[in-house]
Amino acid sequence: MGWKYLPSDLVPRTRRLTTLGTLFRLHFWQATGTSIPQACDNETAVGDGVMLSCVPRESLFLTTKINNMNHKHVAEAMEESLLKLHTDYVDLVLMHWPVSIDPAREKQTVVYNDWTFIDTWREMENLVESGRARSIGVSNFGIQNFETLLASARIVPTVCRVESHVNCPSTELLEFCQSKGIHLTVYASLGSSNSRLADNGTLQAIARARNATIQQILLVWALKRGTSVIPKSVTTSLIKGNLDLDGIDLTCYEMHLLNSLLDRLEVCDGGRVIA
Ligand SMILES: NC(=O)c1ccc[n+]([C@@H]2O[C@H](COP(=O)([O-])OP(=O)(O)OC[C@H]3O[C@@H](n4cnc5c(N)ncnc54)[C@H](OP(=O)(O)O)[C@@H]3O)[C@@H](O)[C@H]2O)c1
Repeated sequence: MGWKYLPSDLVPRTRRLTTLGTLFRLHFWQATGTSIPQACDNETAVGDGVMLSCVPRESLFLTTKINNMNHKHVAEAMEESLLKLHTDYVDLVLMHWPVSIDPAREKQTVVYNDWTFIDTWREMENLVESGRARSIGVSNFGIQNFETLLASARIVPTVCRVESHVNCPSTELLEFCQSKGIHLTVYASLGSSNSRLADNGTLQAIARARNATIQQILLVWALKRGTSVIPKSVTTSLIKGNLDLDGIDLTCYEMHLLNSLLDRLEVCDGGRVIA
C-alpha cells in the first residue's frame, strides 16, 4: 500500500494519521517513508503513525529511500530517517534514482563528477552490514543501470521499484529483474493522480464483465505478472477496495488484451536510463 507525501499545510496531521490508522486496522502493515526536502518528506508522519499505532515493530515492514542529494551522505541520511521513523532499523531502503546530485550546486540537477550510484550502492551495502537496513534496493533503474551496478555490487538489490501499468508495462525490465532474482515493485499502478488509464474501453469492458472496479483490474493485472503493487489512497473506501482483490482473476485472453494496449504513458517523467 503506497503512502505518498502529504505536506502538512495541505493535509492536516489528523488526516495523515487517520490514513495510516486505516491501513493498520486493515492489518496492512507496510509503510514507506520518503525524505525529500520540500518535495515529499513524509517520514515524520509515518514515524508518528507507527508510534501511535501500538503495532509491534516486528509486525511492520518499513521502507525508506536515499534521495538523490544524499548519495554522498548515505549513513547520515539513514540516521536521520531512523530518528524520524522512531526505529533503529528499516526493512528496506531504496536508492530513489540512479542519479547523484550535488546539493551544493545552484541548480539542483547537477551531478557530481567524482561520485556515481556505484559509490552510493557501496555505502548502502554498509547499511546492511551495520544492521541499519535489513535489505537494500533501487528505484527508477533501467537495464543499463543494472548492468553497471551488478558488475561490482557485493549485494544484489532485493527490490527494484519503477513505474508500471498497462500503458507502461516495462516488460523487458520485468524479465531482466526476474532473471536476476530481483523483485519488481510497481508504482503508479493506477496511473497516479488524475489518471487517464480508466478511459480505456478494453479495461472498462473487462471490469464490467468481472464486476470489479477498473482499479481492481489494474492491480490484479500487475499482481498476475509477478510484481507487487503499492497503490496509494487517502480515502478509506478506496483503500478497502484496493485491498479487496480475492476472487478477482483475469484469463490468459484478458491478460493478452491488456498486454496488447497500444497507448503509452509515463506519469513519472525522468526516464529510466540515466547515467
Ligand atoms: N519510487 C518513486 O520514484 C515513486 C514515484 C512515484 C510514486 N511513488 C510511490 O508510489 C505509490 C503510488 O502512488 P502514485 O501516485 O504513483 O500512484 P497510484 O497509486 O497509481 O495512484 C494514486 C491516485 O489514485 C487514486 N486512487 C487510489 N485508489 C483508487 C481507486 N480505487 N479508485 C479511484 N482512484 C483511486 C488516489 O486518490 P486519493 O489518494 O485521493 O484517494 C490517488 O489520486 C506512492 O506511495 C508513491 O509515493 C514512488
